[in-house]
Amino acid sequence: MRDKILNILAASKDYISGVEISSQLNVSRVAVWKHIKKLMEDGYTINSSKKGYLLETSRDLIDFKNNFESEVIFFPHLSSTMDYAKDLAKNETSDFSVVVAETQTMGRGRLNRSWASSKGGLWFTIVAKPKIPFVFAYKFNFAASVAIVETLKENFKINAKVKWPNDVYLHDKKIAGILSEMETTGGMISYINIGIGLNVNNISTPKNVSCISLKEVLGHEISREKILYDFLTKFQKLLREADVEHILDLWRKNTSTIGKNVQIETFNDVFTGKALDIDETGALILELNNNTHKKIIYGDCFYNN
Ligand code: BTN
Repeated sequence: MRDKILNILAASKDYISGVEISSQLNVSRVAVWKHIKKLMEDGYTINSSKKGYLLETSRDLIDFKNNFESEVIFFPHLSSTMDYAKDLAKNETSDFSVVVAETQTMGRGRLNRSWASSKGGLWFTIVAKPKIPFVFAYKFNFAASVAIVETLKENFKINAKVKWPNDVYLHDKKIAGILSEMETTGGMISYINIGIGLNVNNISTPKNVSCISLKEVLGHEISREKILYDFLTKFQKLLREADVEHILDLWRKNTSTIGKNVQIETFNDVFTGKALDIDETGALILELNNNTHKKIIYGDCFYNN
């Protein structure tokens, strides 16, 4: 109920009355008021007047949907944009729909990790429905990391780099991460959801010293609307116009991993060696210390020099 009220408030550009909310949700006005009071205690700024309630939130993202060619749905609050996107994808949603949340309670990252998603960041998932074999799914992650790096370079002259496979770093601090989830049928992709977490105006979690946000880099707040628009435009163009080889070449141009001595940690193994290149599927080609080559398809990458 709390989330439903929050989402009604966010969708309303003007004051909305308690009566209107209670009739939309079929609950009493007292129940609506109790939830609104609790939301205020939780830190949401909600103006209350004779006309009703008005949520003060970042309109940049809420109004965004008017500007992009495919559907962009904004929520002030979700468990994870991946969860909502999965439900959307299973239904008749159009290709390249985008789900954005101001905050997530259960944001998730790669390799079963959680992803801190406080207010001010850019947390979103793109639902893509390409008609291609699932073996090409990696193209989406590589195109997304390239599009993030190029967006940051063009907008802020920030020279971020991709760390294999698709983390975006500024020097030794992570600024963005990508998580994809897909469903396949008969060897073809039914849908692939690409979740992007970009630290923008949020304060990176103090415990997580290896993260940084754009606000922390630039010293001021930035419009998330422009970054989102530029990223989506770039990402869509790459997917439409560039073949896989070209995307991988752009990745090579924008990575800090190739040539580094690295340690790759997978669920079961740790490999140490020199990162030589990626192959045609995006797997990392590692020269191990015994001079043999090893291809690695997933894992966390740490630099040794
Ligand atoms: C990683 O680097 O581990 C990937 C992080 C991906 C985080 C984003 S935030 C939007 C979307 N929703 C989630 O729950 N996760 C992704």
